[in-house]
Amino acid sequence: MMQLSPPCNNKTMKIAKTITELKTCLEEIGKDKTIGFVPTMGYLHDGHLSLINEAQSHNDVTVVSIFVNPTQFAPGEDLDAYPRDFDQDSLLAEAAGTDLLFFPDPGDIYPAGASTFVEVEGESTRKLCGQSRPTHFKGVTTVVNILFNLIQPTRAYFGQKDAQQVVVIKKMIRDLHLPVQLVVCPIVREADGLALSSRNVFLNPEQRNQALVLSQSLTAAKALYRAGEGRVKILKDQIISHISNMPLAVIDYVDILDFKTLADIENITSPALVAVAVRFGSTRLIDNIILD
Ligand code: PAJ
Repeated sequence: MMQLSPPCNNKTMKIAKTITELKTCLEEIGKDKTIGFVPTMGYLHDGHLSLINEAQSHNDVTVVSIFVNPTQFAPGEDLDAYPRDFDQDSLLAEAAGTDLLFFPDPGDIYPAGASTFVEVEGESTRKLCGQSRPTHFKGVTTVVNILFNLIQPTRAYFGQKDAQQVVVIKKMIRDLHLPVQLVVCPIVREADGLALSSRNVFLNPEQRNQALVLSQSLTAAKALYRAGEGRVKILKDQIISHISNMPLAVIDYVDILDFKTLADIENITSPALVAVAVRFGSTRLIDNIILD
């Protein structure tokens, strides 16, 4: 791990709470180092830490951001309730090998009067989460672009857990010729299959138990596909009926799309993304699997 001198203080992991502090730290790092960047909204769990580990083992320097990005939440969504624990996060980030932790205020990222957005148009943002959260990806691509501009990473690490986010960011990088390499890391799950998510903390024990239906229905669909069923309608219906067995589960969507473009398909002939979003009370969970 590289050592930086003041004004980035003397601790092993540097914490920058403003853009000015971030720039000072990045200047000290120097332009000749590879930077692996992991953007997060905090409340770190092993999924986030797997990205940090990956960044750490392939770059000279690992930068992690923690920023609960207001522009990706619509009015009435859980922006205020989103879980936050900076002290715990900074301990976890440091233990995972983070060199520089960026923890800005919303007013720093979006200066007063900011009215510029980056929006990926087309299928990739209209489908799946884009249907129930039509402004979400515009907020994600805008903040990720701002963070890329500030940090100028060599590689950026994203989780397959947010499969649609990966497709959208890949497209943004390609369309805008952004000089960053995107690295996608596998979904980290609890031992019983539940995909790790900062929002799992909101589930009560009964919801937590029934939430296993997400990964179980995806695994069952994979088994059916492996047994020779390639028709999307049949696979989708099986997942829907599986999830509907759980009285607390309210389906937001179940869909099977082309993995690369998110275009609709009727039969699986090339890698397909099977994605589900299900509400348990006010908590919305997502999960996915690739069939190829
Ligand atoms: P957040 O939900 O905090 O996730 C940060 C990163 O961790 C994302 O790339 C996400 O896919 C990854 N991640 C979350 N759970 C995971 C799991 N169980 N296994 C593997 N990776 C997992 O995604 C966001 O924040 C935001 O939209 C952000 C990109 C930071 C922009 O604000």
